[in-house]
Amino acid sequence: MARLSLSKIEKVYPNGFKAVHGVDLEVKDGEFMVFVGPSGCAKSTLLRMIAGLESITGGELRIGDRPVNALPPKQRGIAMVFQNYALYPHMKVYDNLAFGLKLAGTPKAELDQRVRHAAALLEMEHLLDRYPKQLSGGQAQRVAVGRAIVKKPDVFLFDEPLSNLDAKLRAAMRVRLTELHRTLRDSHQPATTIYVTHDQVEAMTMGERICVLKDGVIQQVDTPTALYDRPANAFVAGFIGSPEMNLLAARLVGTDGIGGAPLAVEVGGVRLPLPADKAAGLGGLPRIADGAVTFGLRPEHIGIVARAQGDSVAAPARLRFTEHMGSELYLHADLGPLPVTARVPAEQASALAGLSRGDALTLHLQMSACHLFDATSGVNLLSHAGASASSPASSTGSAPGSMPSSPRASQGFFA
Ligand SMILES: Nc1ncnc2c1ncn2[C@@H]1O[C@H](COP(=O)(O)OP(=O)(O)OP(=O)(O)O)[C@@H](O)[C@H]1O
Ligand SMILES: [Mg+2]
Repeated sequence: MARLSLSKIEKVYPNGFKAVHGVDLEVKDGEFMVFVGPSGCAKSTLLRMIAGLESITGGELRIGDRPVNALPPKQRGIAMVFQNYALYPHMKVYDNLAFGLKLAGTPKAELDQRVRHAAALLEMEHLLDRYPKQLSGGQAQRVAVGRAIVKKPDVFLFDEPLSNLDAKLRAAMRVRLTELHRTLRDSHQPATTIYVTHDQVEAMTMGERICVLKDGVIQQVDTPTALYDRPANAFVAGFIGSPEMNLLAARLVGTDGIGGAPLAVEVGGVRLPLPADKAAGLGGLPRIADGAVTFGLRPEHIGIVARAQGDSVAAPARLRFTEHMGSELYLHADLGPLPVTARVPAEQASALAGLSRGDALTLHLQMSACHLFDATSGVNLLSHAGASASSPASSTGSAPGSMPSSPRASQGFFA
């Protein structure tokens, strides 16, 4: 069992490119941590530094209580599964699983016990006698995971292990890997895991906590729910969730007196009154030049019928097109000049009958669920320090430019 601690970790590649910028992160013993972010954000670089496959330029890495910066991969107690797992083609599955243990001189009885235990965990006892070419893609990937399990590592590292599988198999493997992790942990076996993916669905469904990266900088470390409900900035807000959160250029307008809270947000020429708590949340912030903000609203918070709760605001829009997803449809419309997406339950689709492209319709925006981000820095203006309470203090996910913890005296919103 092992926890993992990254302190001010940096990576400068030999060509001078700085790929990782001062990453601070604690992964708890037994935790399933996901690294997610767009291509090139340094997910693999970080993972390879943890594995010892890439040198660490700055900072300290600890596994358990040991600083391991200088240790070779073999002495770090880790096992890694890649996207391109190479099985030995001339060896049966059993021998593929046993190979590393044989090299390490593991006694035959223990080797056999470990191989069969891993095969049982992955429900592949019936595959032990096959050659890799006799396996499906998903089965071969299970063997690759099995090779990691037989090593009994302190930490499992996965780098996009499911990317080569088709969508259906990916979904099945996702569940299998998550269950495997919980099984290992529940039976007090080493289970600390870092799982790299660029797929936010994988991140949300598998991760106990998720570390969102961009350009080698941590944007936020939090539980899936906290990331979804309280994104630290517009980047995280747009990256987590499908379809994406609507992020629209907007302006805060009107105040409830000199230096007071804004009354509304103007989006695409439409004035949307702000709920009192949102307005109050902005009230103590330093002024925002021209009131310019980014307005964020998830597609499920935009509807075509008014909400019974009475917290929706009607806004005129024009239909662009719809995508039918079965139980719901994605409605694409223009709010003034700004494209927005709404998620509409299929049973409400009849309200759209007879409408074609360019026709007027009314959207109902659930303002109690809206987010406001700084137009320049992207920082969430409403999630003040401490709002992200579910994030343990140890998750030093340094949200860049995060809000000052003691808001300065308000000077009104307009420079
Ligand atoms: N050997 C290298 N020398 C110089 N730059 C490198 C090297 N390896 C990677 N990089 C750069 O470091 C950055 C991070 O790369 P990395 O492979 O870690 O990204 P990633 O998040 O894993 O991306 P992907 O999702 O595409 O796998 C990229 O800009 C990449 O071009
Ligand atoms: Mg990568």
